[in-house]
Amino acid sequence: MLTSTLDDLQARFAAACAQTRDERELDAVRVAYLGRSGEVTNVRRTIGQLPADERPAAGKTINDAVERMEAVLAAEQQRLEARAFETELQQRVDVTFPAVDPQIGTIHPIRRIFNDVCAYFERLGFAVVVGPEVEPDYFTFDALNIPSDHPAREGFDSFFITDNLLLRPHTSTMQIRTMLQHKPPIAVVAPGKCYRRDAVDARHLFQFNQIEGLLVARGVHFGHLKGVLTGMCRELFGADQQVRFRPSFFPFTEPSAEVDTTCPKCKGHGSDCNMCGGSGWIELGGAGMVHPNVLREVGYDPDDVSGWAFGFGIERLGLTRYEIDDIRRFVESDPDFLTQLH
Ligand code: DAH
Repeated sequence: MLTSTLDDLQARFAAACAQTRDERELDAVRVAYLGRSGEVTNVRRTIGQLPADERPAAGKTINDAVERMEAVLAAEQQRLEARAFETELQQRVDVTFPAVDPQIGTIHPIRRIFNDVCAYFERLGFAVVVGPEVEPDYFTFDALNIPSDHPAREGFDSFFITDNLLLRPHTSTMQIRTMLQHKPPIAVVAPGKCYRRDAVDARHLFQFNQIEGLLVARGVHFGHLKGVLTGMCRELFGADQQVRFRPSFFPFTEPSAEVDTTCPKCKGHGSDCNMCGGSGWIELGGAGMVHPNVLREVGYDPDDVSGWAFGFGIERLGLTRYEIDDIRRFVESDPDFLTQLH
């Protein structure tokens, strides 16, 4: 009796499975027969009506039937998978259809300049150091020979966070951090972001980038500075670049200079060049011999060692290198603009 019920059930199950067209339909059949309230469960319930000694054998018969049904199910599953794969293969693909161009990112022009300048200095044996953008005024001013009543502080229109904590307005902070950590000789460049309360226009951003350079050792002199910076400009702009120094003032250097390089666009000819305003020169930033007060502040002996330092604006180099007339282009994140520059 039980056997014939199960035979019938298995036959119906196999037929139902064979008619399914996808996995969803197959699953519905599985639930109807093998699910918690499916047909097999109904058959199992009848075991309770059998005499106790017949129940184990009946249970086994049902379990065997279920095992066979599960095998059928697995085979059907494979049939459907193979069929789905066949269908997929038969779908026609137009291999001549033009592909969508992949959007490939590029290195930001400011980052490229950092990379190139750092690569040049690393080749000369300089280390690249980076430090915090939020600094105590000690690293920003005091240790750089700018005491709190010094008028030079006015030039750094800074964003203060507390009375003596600020967003660094220049990378010169890294001179102090490096010298406090290491004994001379020192040869480092420090690239990074700086902040000043400048109104934004074609030439100014309130967040910009600088690279600081510092060389301190016995016998370092101004000639080394000129040679190293000439090499840097030739690497960035071409073999004929010249560098000139104009006398200037910074509290942390003595003597101090503004550094210019030949305008790469007009090659120094000037006249109606719109890149250099006709002067034939592009300003890079400040430089000079490290002031003895700064060396003393970090525990160096100015009678024993000397050094030079410079601080250049990276955006300035970018405007020149890419012949751009508006500094805001660098921060607008316009892919059409950024992907043009190499
Ligand atoms: N820190 C100066 C500024 O941002 C630039 C500068 C001038 C840096 C002379 C130097 C230096 O290292 O020697 O205006």
